[in-house]
Amino acid sequence: MQDLIRPIDRYQIALNDRIIMAKSTLSFVCQNCGAAYNRWQGKCDSCGEWNTLSEEDTTGATSMPVSVRSKRKGRTFKLESLTGKTQDAPRLSSGMTELDRVTGGGFVRGSVLLVGGDPGIGKSTLLTQATSLMARAGHRVVYISGEEAVAQVRLRAERLGLADAPVQLAAETSVEDIVSTLSEGAVPRLIVIDSIQTMWTDTVESAPGTVTQVRASAQALIRFAKKTGAAIILVGHVTKDGQIAGPRVVEHMVDAVLSFEGEGSQHFRILRAMKNRFGPTDEIGVFEMTGLGLREVSNPSELFLSERDLGSPGTAVFAGIEGTRPVLVELQALVAPTTLGTPRRAVVGWDPSRLSMVLAVLEAHCGVKLSGYDVYLNVAGGLRIQEPAADLAAAAALVSSLVNAPLPTDAVYFGEISLSGAVRPVAQTSARLKEAAKLGFGRAVLPESARGEIGSDGGLSLNSVGGLTSLVAEIAARGTPRNAGNGNRDANAGTSEKNATPSRFRRENG
Ligand code: TYD
Ligand code: MG
Repeated sequence: MQDLIRPIDRYQIALNDRIIMAKSTLSFVCQNCGAAYNRWQGKCDSCGEWNTLSEEDTTGATSMPVSVRSKRKGRTFKLESLTGKTQDAPRLSSGMTELDRVTGGGFVRGSVLLVGGDPGIGKSTLLTQATSLMARAGHRVVYISGEEAVAQVRLRAERLGLADAPVQLAAETSVEDIVSTLSEGAVPRLIVIDSIQTMWTDTVESAPGTVTQVRASAQALIRFAKKTGAAIILVGHVTKDGQIAGPRVVEHMVDAVLSFEGEGSQHFRILRAMKNRFGPTDEIGVFEMTGLGLREVSNPSELFLSERDLGSPGTAVFAGIEGTRPVLVELQALVAPTTLGTPRRAVVGWDPSRLSMVLAVLEAHCGVKLSGYDVYLNVAGGLRIQEPAADLAAAAALVSSLVNAPLPTDAVYFGEISLSGAVRPVAQTSARLKEAAKLGFGRAVLPESARGEIGSDGGLSLNSVGGLTSLVAEIAARGTPRNAGNGNRDANAGTSEKNATPSRFRRENG
């Protein structure tokens, strides 16, 4: 077949091949998840986001042309067994206890860490503080800012009282320049890249901030970290607007992903590990944003309970565990008569489906009719609770708001509620009780079956509940009915005979 083609035709074919290879490859890349499409479409099939596709030149995104790749013969390598000598990952303390707690004891050499968060949450502040402390401890630390000029970074350091720290600073965005510069001299122990969205590399054609650029830049920096053993922190903004590539596209490439969270209006900031190849992912670091930078909060319970609204209905203190640390936090509930056809259920800081479950159990097993009420639940202080142990505290706060009866101010609540209405035991009962006692609480409402595993109750009086029904009855007995005008909707809502709710409570709801 080859012989039938004239030499001149063969030349033309080769030329065409070249032209095809050199031609830039344009595709539409989702700026949220990085999925690529040949054609524009309104919705990304991969992540379901709308209007996130934008045209990108992905030339060079794959490392080698197909013709080269297929010719290369793979080298052989030695396969290892699972047993063998391994060393603990060498770590470098940041000098900030809360940050070390989240990373699992410090930065690991040669690892790459992504710190994500909304713009303005305090990522640059956190990393300026950490790098300064490490530089003061005698490590070579480099801070590359792609967003701010050197003068701006200096100003921040001055404000934080850290201007004297020997951090090496630069305002650069070219990955090639950064890598060349950092390859000279001693290997830096830590490099901060603020932010990955501003970086660009020559190897790909598309504009800085696009998925292709962010991915290629991150890859180059990760290669540098693995080669030299320097730890790298990439800062990434989480934006929903589709203009800037979300840092989600690099999440799978890095060793750890930390998320810096907080409500804009509040001073608390929480650093949480979303992924960590070298440590736990359930630890949180708590900070407070002050006029002089971030202050570490070593006892978060005190902070979360500092602005408690004592004696108002609808609040319950939950004795929770975050990682290895007990954390007391206030849950606030508001149950108000609705004017809507479908009542509103809004929750901040907790899983909405858990709230639905607790409401369903209250309705089905305890005769608490909530279909005519809007329900709001809020976790104070901007904390996000993931434990099912918060069920009991949430239920107590909800019922307290419904019957307008404040809960005892010196009580903490914890326990998981099952679909049958039983209150289930949760882990680390003693640690929760100890923390409550330390903060001056006098009693704990906890699962009945947890009693056996309590080593010391820390001097608390324990009120163990076997089922949700008895707790609801107890709270309802303290309450005074309100919302008398809401009778219509609940008029037909019957209360089953088997529940133990006092008649007073039943009258109010049925
Ligand atoms: P910054 O670290 O620049 O946020 P990010 O890098 O995540 O975008 O922090 C910005 C906010 O922090 C800004 O609104 C001002 C506030 N801030 C303080 O309240 N106190 C301080 O000491 C500093 C440096 C910043
Ligand atoms: Mg910043």
